[in-house]
Amino acid sequence: VTVYLVGAGPGDPGLVTARGLELVRRCDALVYDRLVSGELVAEAPGDALRIGRADLSQAAVTDLLIRLGRQGLDVVRLKGGDPYTFGRGGEEALALAEAGIQFEVVPGVSSLAAVPGSAGIPITHRGTSSQATIVSGHDPSELDFGWLARSEGTLVFFMGLAALPAIADGLIGAGLAPDTPAAVISQGTTSEEASVAAPLGEIADAAGTLAPPALVVVGQVVSLAPKLRRREAHESERALAG
Ligand SMILES: C[S@@+](CC[C@H](N)C(=O)[O-])C[C@H]1O[C@@H](n2cnc3c(N)ncnc32)[C@H](O)[C@@H]1O
Repeated sequence: VTVYLVGAGPGDPGLVTARGLELVRRCDALVYDRLVSGELVAEAPGDALRIGRADLSQAAVTDLLIRLGRQGLDVVRLKGGDPYTFGRGGEEALALAEAGIQFEVVPGVSSLAAVPGSAGIPITHRGTSSQATIVSGHDPSELDFGWLARSEGTLVFFMGLAALPAIADGLIGAGLAPDTPAAVISQGTTSEEASVAAPLGEIADAAGTLAPPALVVVGQVVSLAPKLRRREAHESERALAG
């Protein structure tokens, strides 16, 4: 294997997998996303090539992975959360497969459940919510709000902060009660984590100053947060093991 598509976890560098950390520590080249913790990037060998993804287009990243892979280098493509959950890992893997380059996917802890969990919200809970729907909130005009409003359980929106007013209006317009509990969690699992909870009808205003990345959770499970939230301030980020 030459290219490893590795999930870095949701933010706290201590939440990378043991396998992911091992690969970072022995790679020749590290291509990493903006959301990846600097502490993890610092774990790569001192002489490894480090390339931040921020300034590159998706096509440029894919080309780069193919080029590095062809050189026979041990390449780690480090992506926030899990590579195959809204991470474009599938696109990169397809391009590598088409180019005939061996790759391996190393799953990561997605923000999907880790970020709500960190804020005291289990995304399912017996007797309260027996299903969760994962939604991209990037372009609300693509969403079927009627279907979402009818789907029982929890709705988890990725990339939904910018369009939160349109998402809340869309759900309420399609029949979801305005008093349905909702929450926005920003920079979950990191020392910068901040969250707000409010009825769906008020969540867009309540989330006013929160910064991305943020996850939006809608459903009765949000009501558990006051009981399940950690009491102490977020401990400083866990140190990476050995
Ligand atoms: C391009 S997606 C990548 C998701 C990632 N692959 C995963 O599995 O978590 C980026 C979105 O994930 C969510 N996200 C990722 N990390 C987060 C964090 N620490 N706190 C809150 N939301 C986060 C936000 O909705 C953000 O807009």
